[in-house]
Amino acid sequence: MALHKGAPALRRAIASSVPPSKRAFSVSMPHANEPTVDAAAFGEQHIAKGIGRLTKHVLEEGKGTYVITDQGKKLLDMTSGIGVVNLGHCHPKVSEAAAKQCMKLTHAQVNIGFNATQIALLKELIPILPHPSLDTVFLWNSGAEAVEAAVKLARAATKKQNIIVMQGSYHGRTSATAAMTRSKTIYGEGHGPLMPGIFATAFPYYSQFGLPADTPIDELVEMALFQLKLTLSQQTAPSDTAAIILEPVLGEGGYVPAPPAFLHGLRKVCDEHGTLLICDEVQSGMGRTGTMFAVEESGVRPDVLIFAKGIANGFPLSGIASTNELMGRQKPGTMGGTYAGNAVACAAAKAVIEVFREEKVLDNVAARSQQLFGFLNDLKNSGSKAGKLIQDIRGRGLMVGVQFQDADVIAQSQNEAARKKGGGGQIAPKVVQECVKRDMLLLSTSVFDVLRFIPPLTISEQEMQEACRIFGESLEAVAAEL
Ligand SMILES: Cc1ncc(COP(=O)(O)O)c(C=O)c1O
Repeated sequence: MALHKGAPALRRAIASSVPPSKRAFSVSMPHANEPTVDAAAFGEQHIAKGIGRLTKHVLEEGKGTYVITDQGKKLLDMTSGIGVVNLGHCHPKVSEAAAKQCMKLTHAQVNIGFNATQIALLKELIPILPHPSLDTVFLWNSGAEAVEAAVKLARAATKKQNIIVMQGSYHGRTSATAAMTRSKTIYGEGHGPLMPGIFATAFPYYSQFGLPADTPIDELVEMALFQLKLTLSQQTAPSDTAAIILEPVLGEGGYVPAPPAFLHGLRKVCDEHGTLLICDEVQSGMGRTGTMFAVEESGVRPDVLIFAKGIANGFPLSGIASTNELMGRQKPGTMGGTYAGNAVACAAAKAVIEVFREEKVLDNVAARSQQLFGFLNDLKNSGSKAGKLIQDIRGRGLMVGVQFQDADVIAQSQNEAARKKGGGGQIAPKVVQECVKRDMLLLSTSVFDVLRFIPPLTISEQEMQEACRIFGESLEAVAAEL
């Protein structure tokens, strides 16, 4: 309390001792700790305006599948902080491992020497990667950084420059990764020039071709592979193409799993042309789809795997894995970074892998996935007005998308659209806001009319039942207003 009252007073005292022309800050600036200042209002004033936000809640605590606001509101979190806290908020074992590491060594800089926690982590991580050839790892902090690391590796290893991405892809918001992102124009809009050398090809998703939801998968795969052939003969020559990168489950592009036949087709094209196949599993990895990595199900070998988000359950850690031979083509000094593979984050990640084993997390993913799909399919087939709005239910494990019937395409953030009550006629943004009213966090995704369920993988049967109830009520409320 003393600190709450003291900090602004101290600031005012310092300010009054400095002539106005030399003051670095305004005396009238509100301070977040001042009891009279609303924290959300402070945030709106002082946090970058470029951040889109689902709600104006101030999140203060998290436990398992719930987050609690500064106003004491308990929110059921079906977003996992966008696929990050796969083991739920503040998993005790992960938090404890991080806390212990905090008292031992927080920063073991990778350009200075080996980092003991990093080595301990890699001994656990390498055996669970989706192919035995992926035996060499570079760790970084964010997903976008790891994507950039994969691009650098592909360029250095192949001595080629161009990268093919999927239409609808999301790889991040840095200048390189925004260039590689094709899910919505907003991520790059007004910030050009972005990194050159990026070409987009079609993903086998019916909405990208303007086709109905029941278009057979093999037709979509055939069309997408044909488009890739055109991309390689009309846009970027194979001799200039370093890599093809895709998310094995298209995330921001609509929660669409890549059919195994498509992944095999890409592998074949890459092998023919000496092009690397990069799988971005930043969102689909770490158990999210029911296997440790989504690409596993197809049996396809990626040349480079990218991981982040769930790897450390909320601590900033990302990385790429590839073969020793490919990684050996980069000169020492070309990779690194001040915080790369931070010791605390590595300790947390090691605990994450142990929890997966000890708590049989993948078994829970299978059970809760069945529960969620069962509820959604029953709702769709119920004949109710709400059920009739659902066009398609798809996904794997606990990465589940629900697409609604034939609404407009909108390019801006659907969260913004929902708040402004527009939403281009789309259902998803409206359902999201109805869920928020009922204290449940749920996200939409893509320019199409899609909602995504991405709860903690540790969600209980009862919590999932509650989430389904709230979703059902929210969709009914939206249907009633149409
Ligand atoms: C597939 C994919 N790649 C890359 C990223 C970027 O990760 P970050 O936000 O940690 O930079 C994301 C983030 O959502 C993602 O889903």
